[in-house]
Amino acid sequence: MEKYKIAVIGVGGISSTHIDGYLSDPRCELYAFCDINENTLKEKGAKYGITRLFTDYNEMFKACPELDAVSVCTWNNAHVPAGLAAVNAGCHVFCEKPMAMSAKEAEELKAAAEKNNKVLGLGFVRRFGDDAALAREMAENGMLGDIYYAKAEYLRRNGNPGGWFADSRRSGGGPMIDLGVHVIDLVRYIAGCPKPVSVYGATFKKLGDRNELKDKKAYFLGDIAGERESSVCDVEDLATAMIRFDNGLVLSVETSYSLNLENDSGRLEIFGDKGGVTIGPELVYHGEVCNRLADIRFKSPAQFDGSEYSAEIHNFISAIDGKEPLKATAEDGVELMKILDAIYESARTHKEVLV
Ligand SMILES: NC(=O)c1ccc[n+]([C@@H]2O[C@H](COP(=O)([O-])OP(=O)(O)OC[C@H]3O[C@@H](n4cnc5c(N)ncnc54)[C@H](O)[C@@H]3O)[C@@H](O)[C@H]2O)c1
Repeated sequence: MEKYKIAVIGVGGISSTHIDGYLSDPRCELYAFCDINENTLKEKGAKYGITRLFTDYNEMFKACPELDAVSVCTWNNAHVPAGLAAVNAGCHVFCEKPMAMSAKEAEELKAAAEKNNKVLGLGFVRRFGDDAALAREMAENGMLGDIYYAKAEYLRRNGNPGGWFADSRRSGGGPMIDLGVHVIDLVRYIAGCPKPVSVYGATFKKLGDRNELKDKKAYFLGDIAGERESSVCDVEDLATAMIRFDNGLVLSVETSYSLNLENDSGRLEIFGDKGGVTIGPELVYHGEVCNRLADIRFKSPAQFDGSEYSAEIHNFISAIDGKEPLKATAEDGVELMKILDAIYESARTHKEVLV
């Protein structure tokens, strides 16, 4: 069987998880790398024995018309331009989150993928967790009943990653577009992917990147990307929003890079009229048993453990093969961008925004 020839565009921190996914999939051959940072490119090429190395993805597509699929793991501002170049060159695309800098851009990429008849998968990796599967199964089999309210938080006390993450021209925003996107998507996924109707959001720039603090930060994923020294920090350090969906669900979400709280936290609570579920990080079901209130913990806890990154790549390849539906689609990416656009617009205007 001929293998799919795969390229990775943007070979910094997160790309390693995509590369591991392709390397562990016998249907794939890692074929080429592209990064605008030559040092990063050379180091990653040497590490994985890849010799087709490019600093410009257009050059790569010209030189390698035989490519079948790409992962886009660049800064957020290059997701759509790189994705468009890829689908127009006849490649399937797996795009990291967030899909784009805006819903308009995301829709453009979705339309181009459809026009070229290419698979466009989204890196909403939390959908691949055992916890997500279990919570969604509970929702589907009626254990939660009508889901009407949810709370999601992804809070860091001192976790601004710096570099491009803190530069809105390259990131599109701060913790809401970087972290909030994961938990909003997870709630949507568990609740059956309702569409957003309206949003009230607020953002704050009070604490900045806290670079002056002596406490070491633990969020430097891109150890070889060398792009974390930028002095720009113009993104929010706290964002919060109330999102109303078309099935009646209201989600309250809060997320931060810098906040005066004691402990960082990542937590979801989903409330239905038959039961509730908390993921934080252990999954607990809250319901009624024998006419009493009960909290049910599982013997083998369902938790996110990192294996999900390979699972999302395998799902992408299976979708190209026509063997599995994508778990996170371009449409999901677009809906998320609509929510993010509305949150930032509401924060700017201090008004509720209809989506
Ligand atoms: N799913 C997750 O859990 C997760 C975790 C971290 C990051 N991410 C996402 O992955 C993406 C990359 O994040 P990262 O932490 O790896 O950042 P990073 O800075 O470590 O790596 C990004 C790389 O992209 C390169 N790049 C930028 N623009 C480019 C272009 N036009 N062409 C080619 N290369 C380009 C940079 O030089 C850099 O090496 C972001 O969109 C981020 O939101 C997802």
